[in-house]
Amino acid sequence: MTTVAAAEVLGFPAVWLRDNCPCERCRDPRNGQKLFGILDIPANVSIDRIESSAATFSVTFGPDGHRAVFSREWLDRQLGPASGDGRSEEDKQLWRAGDLAGSLPVASWSQYGNDDACRLEMLRAVQLVGFAVLHGTPVVEGTVLDVARTFGYVRETNYGELFDVRVEVNPSNLAFTGLEIAPHTDNPYRDPVPTMQLLHCLSNAVEGGDSGLVDGFQAGAILREEDPGSFEILTSTLVRFAWSDGKSSLSAERPLIDVDPRGGIREVRFNSRSMEAVRLSQGELVAFYAAYRRFAEVIARPELLLRFRLEPGDCVVFDNVRLLHARTAFTDRESGHGRGSGSGRGGAGGSRHLQGCYADLDGLASTIALLEKKGT
Ligand code: OGA
Ligand code: ZN
Ligand code: ZN
Repeated sequence: MTTVAAAEVLGFPAVWLRDNCPCERCRDPRNGQKLFGILDIPANVSIDRIESSAATFSVTFGPDGHRAVFSREWLDRQLGPASGDGRSEEDKQLWRAGDLAGSLPVASWSQYGNDDACRLEMLRAVQLVGFAVLHGTPVVEGTVLDVARTFGYVRETNYGELFDVRVEVNPSNLAFTGLEIAPHTDNPYRDPVPTMQLLHCLSNAVEGGDSGLVDGFQAGAILREEDPGSFEILTSTLVRFAWSDGKSSLSAERPLIDVDPRGGIREVRFNSRSMEAVRLSQGELVAFYAAYRRFAEVIARPELLLRFRLEPGDCVVFDNVRLLHARTAFTDRESGHGRGSGSGRGGAGGSRHLQGCYADLDGLASTIALLEKKGT
């Protein structure tokens, strides 16, 4: 051991070093959890002495003589700017539809289930690109829950564990008609909003009913580039979304574009069906509506829309705080019914029947981290 000047310890202040002491009085060795809070650190904590060896720095603190041993390797890893949490645009691969030609994140259910590398690739795609599609899942009701449970936890809501998307006689939501649904995120009226969504196709024997995805982060980045003033308005104006029926009354208020403390796009909400009246001064309203229209115009650009068709057994898994999803209008091939409201109900389950559920990105990230650990 040699004693070195405090300044040589990489410029970490005494309070930081003390807060990160790995000794077993500071961290429970059974679980790695910190056993103290900031107020337990002496306010006048200081570095009295530092000794170094090839692999460690030992720090003796004043005024109480507490001693911490840090590995150099661990300290080295704490240098440099903190990386993001993986949720903001800087950690994503933003796309327009054409960028994905030939590289769609698609796998078969059997390979996904049997091959860790394939599963990891698909789950990473959901993190990076915002979605993945699994083909050949069982065409059986409830399968969407099994898919969600391969990487995380189903978010049960007032709709239940899963929801059916098919034409209904008295639709409580435009999703349950044959009408087109423009690109949107689901359930912005929840706080916290479900950060992931799955849609599983049980049948799609209709004219139309194609699916679409738009990268909302890309749309936000384009808006910021072309019209920074509008971007600023949408990141700073709270918009209320609401939904209710006899049993639930939900509402949440967030900006259409949420940015992290460094200004990076982190979440997008976009759903005219559940947007409430915005309350601002008249001048602010005019500016807000201009910005909202600009954003909608960017989202509607055909080059942003990735179009595909869900066939029975397909399940699309996507980031619901980044991607907007859409479907084209449809009519039942046999009856010609479907558009508009109720009249298009087909046989059991209808001619187009999806089941969806919600889940969250933290479970996805955890599964990815475990698969990565296992692989190394
Ligand atoms: C929905 C929805 C898409 C579809 O139910 O929220 O977007 O393809 N459905 O029907
Ligand atoms: Zn300690
Ligand atoms: Zn939807």
